[in-house]
Amino acid sequence: ATSDFSPAVVVGTGYGAAVTALRLGAAGIPTVMLEMGQLWNTPAEDGAIFSDMLTPDRRSSWFTSRTEAPLASFLWLDIANRNIDPYAGVLDRVHFGDMSVYVGRGVGGGSLVNGAMAVTPKRWYFEEILPGVDADEMYGTYYPLANSMLGTNNVDPAWFETCKSYQFARVSRKHAQKAGLTTTFVPSVYDFDYMRREEAGEVPRSALASEVIYGNNHGKRSLDKSYLAAALGTGNVTIQTLSEVRDIAQQQDGTYTLTVRRIDAHGTVLGVRQLGTKYLFLGAGSLGSTELLVRARDTGKLPDLGEEVGQGWGTNGNVMLGRANHVWDTVGAVESGMPALGIDAWDDPVNPVFAEIAPVPAGLETWASLYLAITKNPERGFFSYDPGADRAVLQWDIAQGQRSIDAAKSLFDRINKANRTIYRYDLFGDTRVFENRFTYHPLGGLVLGKATDLHGRVKGYRNLYVTDGSLIPGSTGVNPFVTITALAERNIARVLAEDF
Ligand code: FDA
Repeated sequence: ATSDFSPAVVVGTGYGAAVTALRLGAAGIPTVMLEMGQLWNTPAEDGAIFSDMLTPDRRSSWFTSRTEAPLASFLWLDIANRNIDPYAGVLDRVHFGDMSVYVGRGVGGGSLVNGAMAVTPKRWYFEEILPGVDADEMYGTYYPLANSMLGTNNVDPAWFETCKSYQFARVSRKHAQKAGLTTTFVPSVYDFDYMRREEAGEVPRSALASEVIYGNNHGKRSLDKSYLAAALGTGNVTIQTLSEVRDIAQQQDGTYTLTVRRIDAHGTVLGVRQLGTKYLFLGAGSLGSTELLVRARDTGKLPDLGEEVGQGWGTNGNVMLGRANHVWDTVGAVESGMPALGIDAWDDPVNPVFAEIAPVPAGLETWASLYLAITKNPERGFFSYDPGADRAVLQWDIAQGQRSIDAAKSLFDRINKANRTIYRYDLFGDTRVFENRFTYHPLGGLVLGKATDLHGRVKGYRNLYVTDGSLIPGSTGVNPFVTITALAERNIARVLAEDF
């Protein structure tokens, strides 16, 4: 029996969810947020909330007995990973055959673990991927709103040129320029003034202490410090943690009933309960929200969901690769964990690439330049329901990633040729140069205008909405969270005006 009821429920606490909860709360609507991960605000015995990349412990990972870092090896040695106790840690790597997907777990979702790069896509590309969305409104109103709420800031160019922390980026820039390529500063939600004081030795180090992907103890404006703090500040929003939504059903009166499984931080199931709501917003991310609706459709709980549910998933064209630097091109032992520069070749008519110049925060000289390339890859995967595992399984074939590798290769072959350098073969566990068996940027599954209307209302059901990265059709051309945030702002403004 449904004992609890909340007028509005938001599933998840990532970007789409946080925006939605703030706007609902500010409109006076009592709202419950359900998050499967933990609230990360309490230091452990070592005085830190999160563990760093060099000595990750159980806080780093979501229920696994060994960490799974993106750089699997260094000089072919498995030095990045550690055996740990299974625990409700902050980073999850979800495996599906040829593709695995990194996602954040906890209050703030991906904002807890990500590289903080806050990039607005080129307008012409936005118009190409989401032609049904008014670009004037996005670029005039919602991108500026999202950036200001998120606390986006820019590195001081004078400091950038002289600091130690970005020597790695300056070396990569020199190599790109030698090949005739253009670099651009990347805005961030990491506080660059804090970083400057880190380097000056005035404050505890975070970005400069190899903190990224397993959380930052300082400096980063994650969602718990921006949107979610504001949402709680309305007095109308509450967050329930370690609470995973498993099922969604609809009652005769049109309200929804959620089945919520509560665990403790060690994975023991504490109980399963029902929560009713009138307005249900899915912000569980591309994997989470899509799974909930694929499961609801294919188990017959929401039978009117259409075939578009589960379709249109992409990796944002992610490819990671490393280049070997010349012995004289040292980058030093300190690399900021937060990137600040990208190679912008998105206007290339054949092989568009936006490559963020990524750190190798190993704490020692690596003679390596690392990149996360975002490429334009039209291949799309889809999700199907596996009844045995009660799980939505991503269908993505390794061959679908080839376009991304080809594009990255064409760009980095040019850079290597101009600088007489070679690729690194020792970083991804075997001898491959290009790693695209994982993505940081899962997008799609419940695409705007297909599985939903043009404002995220799920087709076939009233008062059921999608707010997160699953709305975006597989690609943003740049790092996606500003776009997810801006789109969520746009959609909730319309929904509040018309549906409440
Ligand atoms: P998001 O994934 O943020 O949040 C979903 C939340 O829902 C999670 O907290 C999850 O635990 C919860 N959830 C899922 N299923 C649930 C269920 N059934 N019940 C309850 N809760 C559930 N992007 C960028 O723009 N710049 C960058 O620098 C980076 N860097 C980067 C690094 C790394 C390591 C990662 C993993 C990702 C990035 N990203 C990034 C990507 C970015 O973080 C990502 O696109 C957004 O977090 C996606 O936001 P969403 O709102 O879609 O969901």
